[in-house]
Amino acid sequence: MAKVEVDLAAIPEGKNVSPEQVIIKWRGKPVFIRHRTQSEIDEANKVNVQSLRDPQADADRVQKPEWLVMLGKFSPSFPDTPETNNLSSDACAAKVPAPSMASIADVFISSAGVCTHLGCVPIGEAGDFGGWFCPCHGSHYDISGRIRKGPAPLNLEIPAYDFPEEDKLVIG
Ligand code: FES
Repeated sequence: MAKVEVDLAAIPEGKNVSPEQVIIKWRGKPVFIRHRTQSEIDEANKVNVQSLRDPQADADRVQKPEWLVMLGKFSPSFPDTPETNNLSSDACAAKVPAPSMASIADVFISSAGVCTHLGCVPIGEAGDFGGWFCPCHGSHYDISGRIRKGPAPLNLEIPAYDFPEEDKLVIG
């Protein structure tokens, strides 16, 4: 399956790359990528997960690159695997990027730009929860892409993605 590369340096803080600006498609679906601000990340983490229609913590929606796991940032929730356990400390050091990149997984979130109600494309930076709004029947998604109001039953789908190097996100 084809992978899609995205230049993160082109997405300013507090902005989306969305179908209205640049069409990024993954498996035929438009994809939203947002460079979130710290206050947006804090807001996403303050939500009572159990109050959500499709309960999911923000931390479980962001992708966790192996090099962040090696830093220990996500170790409590990331499964031990033979792959991560067998990496030598040299291999870990080689994967550790500049410290400023340590929170990249929190900052950039990528979701399929397809409403989980009937498949319209939501609008970015709109709606009552600061994320996306689907004008077809009024579904509001938050900054994590979680459904908060309206008829959509599920959160926006998160495709598999990774950060192989600084300023690059690869979807698929
Ligand atoms: Fe989005 Fe119906 S398709 S609310």
